[in-house]
Amino acid sequence: MNEITIIKPDDWHLHFRDQDMLLETVPATARCFERAVVMPNLVPPVTTAELALSYKERILAARPAGSTFTPLMTIYLTDKTSVEDIQDAKKAGVLAAKMYPAGATTNSDSGVNSLESLYPVFEALAENDMLLLIHGEVTQKHIDIFDREKEFIDQHMVNIVKRVPNLKVVFEHITTKDAADFVLNAREGVAATITPQHLLLNRNDMLDGGVRPHNYCLPILKRSTHQEALRAVVKSGSPKFFLGTDSAPHARHRKESDCGCAGCYSAWSALELYTQVFDELDALDKLEGFASLYGADFYGLPRNTEVVTLVREAWDVPESIALPSGEPIVPFFAGKSVSWKIKT
Ligand code: DOR
Ligand code: ZN
Repeated sequence: MNEITIIKPDDWHLHFRDQDMLLETVPATARCFERAVVMPNLVPPVTTAELALSYKERILAARPAGSTFTPLMTIYLTDKTSVEDIQDAKKAGVLAAKMYPAGATTNSDSGVNSLESLYPVFEALAENDMLLLIHGEVTQKHIDIFDREKEFIDQHMVNIVKRVPNLKVVFEHITTKDAADFVLNAREGVAATITPQHLLLNRNDMLDGGVRPHNYCLPILKRSTHQEALRAVVKSGSPKFFLGTDSAPHARHRKESDCGCAGCYSAWSALELYTQVFDELDALDKLEGFASLYGADFYGLPRNTEVVTLVREAWDVPESIALPSGEPIVPFFAGKSVSWKIKT
C-alpha cells in the first residue's frame, strides 16, 4: 500500500508550553491533528478552570488562519485541589485532570505528594464525567528509574482503578509490557496512550554509542522487550490504546546540558512516524482506529469527519528548527528519514 486515507486524527496528550512558543507548537500540531489534549504543566501550572480558560484563549490565538483545530483543556492536580475545583472545571468545559506524582517529570514540583488524600477529587471527577490522566511513575529515589512505571502500577494504579470503579482513567504514555498488560486486563474505562518514541525506540537508542539527549523523555525508554510489547499491542488493534504523542518541546540548550530536560518534540513528524510503525508491523489497517477513533470513543467525544491522506514518500526531519524566540530546538528524529508523508 502506497497511500492511506484515514479520518483526521487527534493527539490525546501533548505539551504546547506558552507565550511565543505557541506560535511554533500550535501550527505544528494543527497541520494534522483536529484536536489535542493539552497538558497543564506550565510554570506555574494550570490548576483551575480560570487558568485553563485563559490558556485556551492563548492557544486559539496561535492557530494558523482558517484552522479549526480545537484544544481540549485539562487541569493539574495538586495536594490542594478541591472537589469544588473539579466542579468549576467541569462548568468551564475542562475534560480531564492530570495527576503528576510530585517530582516525577518536567514541571511536576507542584504535583501530588499524598495520593491517598486525593480520593474525594477522584470521586468528583467520576461524578462529573471527567477523566483522570495519570503520569504513572513512582518518585521514590531508591526505585530504579527503569522500574518506576511497574512500581506505580503495583503501589497505586491497581487501587485507583478498583476504588473508584466508575472513573475513566488514562494511563499516559505507557512504556512497559507491565503497563500494556495491566490495561489489557483492566476493567472497562481504563485506557492508555502510546508515544511514537516508545514504539520506535528502546534504551539502546538513548545510550548505545553515546548519550542521545534528544531521545531522553519520561517515562524513560525501556529495554527492547518492552518496546516489542507496545508494538504488539498497537498491532492487535485493541481500542484500549490510542495516540498521544507527548510532544514536549525544550530548546536545544536545555536538552544538551549536564542536566538535560526530558521530552521529545515530535509534532513535526509524529503522525508520519506512527504510520511508519504500523507499516513496519504490516498493520496499516489498524492505524485509523489508533490515531482517529479509539481516543474520541474513550473520551465520549464525536469522531472527526474530515480525512487526511498519507503517501509513501521519504523525507528528512530537519536537524534543527528556530523557535519564535530565535533559539534553536532539535525536533524528534532530527536528520533521520521518515518513509511516510502527509499529502497536502
Ligand atoms: O518527557 C517528558 N516531557 N515527560 C513528561 O512527562 C513531561 C514532558 C515535558 O513536559 O517536557
Ligand atoms: Zn506528557
